[in-house]
Formats: sequence, structure tokens, C-alpha cells
Amino acid sequence: MRGRKVLALTAAVLASMLVLTSCKEQQSSGNLRIQVGVASYNQGDTFISELVRSFKEQLSQYESDEITTTVTVKDAAGVQRTQDDQVEELIDSGCNVLCVNLVDRTDPSEIIDLARENDVPIIFFNREPVAEDLMQWSGLYYVGAYAEQSGEIQGELAADIIRDNSSIDRNKDGKIQYVVLEGEAGHQDAIIRTEKVVDTLRNQGIKLEKLSYGIANWNRAQAENRMTQMIGQYPNKIELVLANNDDMALGAIDAYDKLNLTESSRPVFFGIDGTDEGLQAIVDEKMSGTVYNDKEGQAGAMAQLAMALVSGEGLDGIDFENEKYIYLPYQKISPDNVEEFLR
Ligand code: BGC
Ligand code: CA
Repeated sequence: MRGRKVLALTAAVLASMLVLTSCKEQQSSGNLRIQVGVASYNQGDTFISELVRSFKEQLSQYESDEITTTVTVKDAAGVQRTQDDQVEELIDSGCNVLCVNLVDRTDPSEIIDLARENDVPIIFFNREPVAEDLMQWSGLYYVGAYAEQSGEIQGELAADIIRDNSSIDRNKDGKIQYVVLEGEAGHQDAIIRTEKVVDTLRNQGIKLEKLSYGIANWNRAQAENRMTQMIGQYPNKIELVLANNDDMALGAIDAYDKLNLTESSRPVFFGIDGTDEGLQAIVDEKMSGTVYNDKEGQAGAMAQLAMALVSGEGLDGIDFENEKYIYLPYQKISPDNVEEFLR
């Protein structure tokens, strides 16, 4: 009797294992396992780590009696070769959908080949592959945001504040002396944000004088360093700091704090992202404005797309641009509306 029970149990376990081997069989059994492999370019990046946290939360909301979800996150720590290996590990471990935040957005070929061979779809996010690469296979998607819009909104925010506060033009020469802190060279957001913010300020009639710029790779400590150098080069001259993201704006503020520079010699600072610390800096009136990079919206779109791809339910309910792209809009964040973004 006991032996027969064990046999029956073994058969049941075997059957359920078989059921888990392919997406189609999972559906028919009513037992769906969404196994997501997330490949992050660098989990030390504030925005990315907040986005991934939100993704995990939102994906887990799809869980039910029939649906289980798991998320495995790999951190490439800035090395594309490492990421290629990690993607292979994720596929080998049974992931049925991948979310890839490329280290080098111009070099996804190895990852695309691996995914195609194994028929595992990829949702690229935040670091946008070039269009030709995304067209290599039907199982490739991108979730991100409109880079141009973030630069425009940052420019509008800065123009409004400069117009309303004549004290920002400290030397009263009718021009705003500014510096830019830029993200990684080659990142779609760095190039476009810098271009658009300056264009927008000019179009709004603000006279500008560029003093300098520094590449700080999205990183707070690097931005602090670059800012300290620029303050040394242009003592008391800088009136405006435009940073491609909040972490670098915060690094610039750190530089002024450490040099003990007071109100009368401080510029105004603008960021992009609306990270937890970025929002707090607006509440504390250290940063004048930022642009919400909708990580919750992006994470939500990734979760919805991952579900649709694995369940085989189809993509009809999803609003794509050019059949493969989902872009979430940016929003203005100033001291007037920052409360709405605090959670
Ligand atoms: C964000 C940055 C982030 C970068 C990483 C950008 O969209 O604004 O904060 O470091 O993506 O790729
Ligand atoms: Ca001036």
C-alpha cells in the first residue's frame, strides 16, 4: 500500500515536472511560472536599483493560485562580458523571459543570439539598443522614456525659476553662467538631455554662458569630484548646475556642502529622475527642481509585458510604438508638487 502511494507521488511529481518544461504545457495545466531573469548594468546605480525594486513588487502582484513569479537579478558591475555570461546563466537556470539593462547599448548581439537560440524573449530597458539591433528578432522589446522630453522639461523648470528669481544672476550681467554634469558618454539620455536642456533655456529667452562641463557617469561621488574641480576653476562664478540625473546633482550639492559655501555663493541645481533622495533634496530646498523618470511606470510596463509574453495571452492589450517600444512620459517636479511624488 505504502509503496503504491510513493509510486503515485513520484508519478505526480514527474508529471508536474514535465508540465513545467514549456510555456504551452504550463498554460494547459493552469499552472503558470513566470521566471524572470533581470540583467542590470550596475546595481550600484540609484535609479536602476529603485526601478528593479519596483519591478519585483509589481510582478509579484500577478501571483495567484495558478501563477507563481520569481525574479533573479544579476549585476554586471559595468562589464559587458560579465553580462553576456550572466544572461547565459539566467537562461540555463530556466528563466522564460529576460529583462536586460545593457552595459553597452551598442553591443547586444551576443545576448540576442543566446535568447533567440533558446526562444526566450527579451525586454530591454533604460539603456536603449539601436533600432537595427532591436529588429534582429521578433522576441525583442524596449521599455524606457523619451530622452528629449526630459531635457525639455528640465529646461522649462530652470527657465521658470531663473525668470522668477533675479538673484540667480549673481553678477548681474544679464547672463546665467552654467555648468553641466553629464552621464556616461554614449548613453542616449546623456547626449540628448544635455542638448535639449540648453536649447530649451535659449528658446525661452534665457541668456546663457557655458563655463564648463564634467562627465560623471551618473555617479554621485564622481560628480562631487568634478564639481569641486569646477568650483576651483571658477570661484564664485557658477550660477546654475544642470545635471543629467539626480545623483549627479546631489554630488554637486555635496561639493558645495563640503567646501562650506554658503547661500551667497551657491548656484541653483537641477536634476532628472525623482529618486528618493532627489525628492528629499527638493523638500529640503537644496535642489530647485527635477524631472520624474517614471520608474514605477516603466517597471509596471515591464511586468505586464513579461506576463503577456510568458502566458501566451498575446500582446493585444499593450500599447506599443513601432510594435516593440513602450515609452513612459516624464513629468515636472518642483517644490510646488513634490508632495505628490513622495511615497
Ligand atoms: C537615469 C540615470 C541612470 C541611467 C542608467 C538614466 O535614465 O536618469 O539616473 O543612472 O539611466 O542607465
Ligand atoms: Ca550672471
